[in-house]
Amino acid sequence: MQYRPPFFLSVGAVLVLLSLLGWFMLPSDEPMVPIDTSYRDTTKSLEERIDILLTQMTLREKIGQMALVEKNSVRDLDDVGEYGLGALLSGSGGKPENNTPEGWRSMTDAFHQAARTSRLQIPLLYGADANHGHSNVPGATIFPHHIGLGATHDSALVRQIGQATGREMLATGVNWNFAPSLDLPKDMRWGRVYEAFGDDPAAVAALGAAFVQGSQSRVLGDVFVLATPKHFLGAGSMVWGSSTNEHFSIDQGMTPPLETALRRAYLPPFREVVEQGALSIMAGLNAWGDTKVSASHYLLTEVLKEELGFQGFVVSDWYGVYEISENKYEALVTGINAGIDMVMLPFDYQSFVKDVERAVHTGAIAEARIDDAVRRILRAKFSAGLFEYDAEVAPSLEVVGSAEHHALARTAVAQSAVLLKNKGGVLPLTSNTRSILVAGSGADNAGRQMGAWTVEWQGIDGNWLSGTATVLDGIKASVDEHTIVEYDPQGTFGVGTHAEVGIVVVSEKPYAEGWGDSALPTFSPEDVAAIRVVKAKTDTLVVVILSGRPLIMNAEVASGDAIVAAWLPGSEGAGLADVLFGTKPFSGTLPLPWPATIEQVPLLLSGKTQDS
Ligand code: BGC
Repeated sequence: MQYRPPFFLSVGAVLVLLSLLGWFMLPSDEPMVPIDTSYRDTTKSLEERIDILLTQMTLREKIGQMALVEKNSVRDLDDVGEYGLGALLSGSGGKPENNTPEGWRSMTDAFHQAARTSRLQIPLLYGADANHGHSNVPGATIFPHHIGLGATHDSALVRQIGQATGREMLATGVNWNFAPSLDLPKDMRWGRVYEAFGDDPAAVAALGAAFVQGSQSRVLGDVFVLATPKHFLGAGSMVWGSSTNEHFSIDQGMTPPLETALRRAYLPPFREVVEQGALSIMAGLNAWGDTKVSASHYLLTEVLKEELGFQGFVVSDWYGVYEISENKYEALVTGINAGIDMVMLPFDYQSFVKDVERAVHTGAIAEARIDDAVRRILRAKFSAGLFEYDAEVAPSLEVVGSAEHHALARTAVAQSAVLLKNKGGVLPLTSNTRSILVAGSGADNAGRQMGAWTVEWQGIDGNWLSGTATVLDGIKASVDEHTIVEYDPQGTFGVGTHAEVGIVVVSEKPYAEGWGDSALPTFSPEDVAAIRVVKAKTDTLVVVILSGRPLIMNAEVASGDAIVAAWLPGSEGAGLADVLFGTKPFSGTLPLPWPATIEQVPLLLSGKTQDS
């Protein structure tokens, strides 16, 4: 009888083991052929360069490009090159240990270098939400949130802000911006109203396109920051109470299934940015009827890609694809087949690679779909000049928070302020006003001025960030040396105090996304009390409102002789003082209606009829 080795020593067992190991070891399918590097040749056409690169890519390299990973989820720096990850992001608040512009630069440099160790050296997209300046980074210029820019109705200004933001981003190695938002809010109870330019499709289209142009203007040789209009499609039209997130009421909720409303109001801004060269678009976390947008082949492929002719890539929102189904594999198959090209995982890239590879092997996802997704991602990367980017020539960190950008932000603040009431023309104030009492929760609070998406996702209440001027700072700098300015947030000034003018700056606490959903957005009892006290102690009362949305009025606020909607102006409180004291005229107008009562909410979209 012949000797038969036990199975664990046989050739078959070794082969099984090797193939199992191969499943876990990446990359295992790299071909051993010389690389044709002519995709780096800038004299070739864009599509030719893409073809040369794409035809050399293995399936795993392609799948890697489709992954967008939160930087804290990268288990080992080498994984960036080994998995050939397409993109990383800092979720808002995803900061480096050394949270300074220098710290950001060295963090992103390490990731970019890691990407260059991959076989084909495909550059990395590094994304962040720079939606009101490069606002994750302490020291960056903080511009007004979109709602304030909407009040300026000034495309040239928004273009300049997109460009300035892009410059500050590139200096820190961040080359992808998850902005602008093209959402059209109908319901003030939503926590994301301030992220939108307003509710008028034509105005949002113009300002969104200007932001894309500014961001994608070549600020550094051939390199630009890729803009990402979002959230496709219908964000802002969700029904109160329809959120699928247990903590939220309307955010991530359901957009009514009517297609005419969607097409008439929500589609035109996306049509415009596609025409203006947008190369990445983010799918929303909302559902359209009972289908999550990320799962809608109709919206993503038939409407956005085929009908609008979008040539860039669709990126899903944070964990959005996995919300399609509890079965992660099924969710990925549905999302990618629907038209998602890059998946904001944002955590587990290892199982993503395995799942997509399995789906291709079983035919659940056609390889042609993968090729189309990667072609779109490469098109954006080539167009943004990333293959030509050389870290040595990045703009100097001096542009971060530069005097020029602060001046631009100050101009934007002045232009964004809306004069809601001015009884007897009490505004502008004169700089030689004898005495001013300043009160209210927002008067000396840079955190409330800047709102959320500033260093932390939910923002930080209070004066913790250096390099900013509060409204109080601006007032003090605008008056004569003889003017007496007294400040107390609650308005508790000494008995018998009386002043010519009272300025009460009321405010909302910072909030982001569904955490800001509120059944009754209105003024805080503390601010209302401060108005009462100051009104009794002054001849003229000015109320300044710092808020991310119209707040439901009450008798106290309405009792102001002048009322100013200042939105979330950012780091330059002096810009508000400019209009209060007449250095600049008020020119802002409401970017969306200001409801008088909560019963009027949800509102009709400007110039549109309800759901038609
Ligand atoms: C938001 C997006 C944002 C993304 C990345 C999500 O929670 O919905 O607007 O771009 O996070 O920070």
